[in-house]
Amino acid sequence: MDFFQELFLPPSADHLHLIKFLLMVIYFIHLPFIALVIGGTFYSLWFNVRDGGRNHPIYGRLAYQVLEALVFNKWAGLVLGVLPLLVIILISGQIFYDAPIAIVPFLSYLTIFTAVGLSLVYAYQASFRWRENNYYLHLLFGVAGLGMLLLAYLLFSGVTSLQLDPGRWFLIRKPTQLLFSWNVMARFVQFTTAALAFSGAAVLFFFFHWQGGRRGLEENYATYLRNFAMGTALFFTLLQPFFLFWNLITLPSISLSEAVFLLAILVIMVLAWVGLKLWRMVQEKTARRGVSVFVLYLLAFVLMVVTDHFALENAIENHSALLISRAEEVQSRLEAEREARRTSAIKVDLELGKKVYLNQCITCHRFDQQVVGPAYNQVLPKYLDRQEELVDFVRKPRKIDPALPPMPQLGLKESEIRSVVAYLLKTFREQQNNSTAK
Ligand code: HEC
Repeated sequence: MDFFQELFLPPSADHLHLIKFLLMVIYFIHLPFIALVIGGTFYSLWFNVRDGGRNHPIYGRLAYQVLEALVFNKWAGLVLGVLPLLVIILISGQIFYDAPIAIVPFLSYLTIFTAVGLSLVYAYQASFRWRENNYYLHLLFGVAGLGMLLLAYLLFSGVTSLQLDPGRWFLIRKPTQLLFSWNVMARFVQFTTAALAFSGAAVLFFFFHWQGGRRGLEENYATYLRNFAMGTALFFTLLQPFFLFWNLITLPSISLSEAVFLLAILVIMVLAWVGLKLWRMVQEKTARRGVSVFVLYLLAFVLMVVTDHFALENAIENHSALLISRAEEVQSRLEAEREARRTSAIKVDLELGKKVYLNQCITCHRFDQQVVGPAYNQVLPKYLDRQEELVDFVRKPRKIDPALPPMPQLGLKESEIRSVVAYLLKTFREQQNNSTAK
């Protein structure tokens, strides 16, 4: 823990706003992708099991094509799956700086599980090439990958739920403890069903619309795929409002606000709209509305992420205020240190002081007589114990004696000012000592 803490500094107010916004954007890149991988792997396994290794003309092909369409390839897995999680760890480490929540370790587990899960899914994809040789090992890759990803996103539900409940932060130390709460269950079920619905919508989009739709699909194959995708998308979309509502009512009250409610209602409305479109598609038996269904689903994801963002803002309001004041403290301490370093770095040089005196001050000042400015012997006594004040005066002269004109600002360097002041005071002291010695 300490090691993790030292990686981070408390963020300032502007910085905090920025990284919270960034977090939202990254969730939005990451979550739809993971949803597709989970949904794609699930549907692929479903077809694969129905095929039973017999190379059925529809199921056997679907098992591969659906997977390929939804999980893309391992580079996508790296860029959209794993890297965002690393950034999320960094950002969360800042947002929860010094909070008694084990956020960084939890997110690290999540990242490891996700990386392993994604690797297994891509191994499953690659193993289609030797499926005939070892059908069960091939299936095992897929099942293990899906299981790992589900575990990861159960953990994810746990972490995002815990974030919203500061009262429990210090209670939860082990990842297993994360999982025992209704809100975690609600989130997990909601995310996985949303993943299945979104994947159905994505199948419609990628097979029938993307780049003009896939060519060379036989009539009965295409019809089967379309009906399957529309049916599953519709079914899981219709479940969404219940799970969203369940999530909402199990949220800790500290994270709730009008904005959170309004956004949640908006999500439900968008999903109802999607449901309606899917219903029409099923009736019309075409994939015509596939693009808008897919895009609306993406919009629903955006709104869900924004809802959670607002809930988080509410939940960590106190913590954020604390952080900002901590950051200000650290800032002023750093500035003080810098200032101290700067002044101690300025060397006082009596030779330089003498030079400045002879080049500049002497035009208007002598020790024992008034010229333009007063005689030093008259004005220096009051500065004998207050050298800093004299430095301030020479740096920025003020009006003092109404009988005299103001002294101009001379534009000297800090080291010149300090040196000439030291020179004047030293010379003045020496003169005094000499005169008392006489
Ligand atoms: C252009 C003329 C001029 C130059 C050059 C000048 N001074 Fe002065 N200085 C004055 C005048 C005029 C006053 C009186 C200002 C007042 O009382 O408001 C004065 C006042 C002072 C005082 C008295 C402040 C007090 O508390 O009464 C000090 C000390 C002093 N100058 C230091 C210096 C030093 C050191 C330099 C050279 C780096 C310097 N001055 C250069 C014109 C000058």
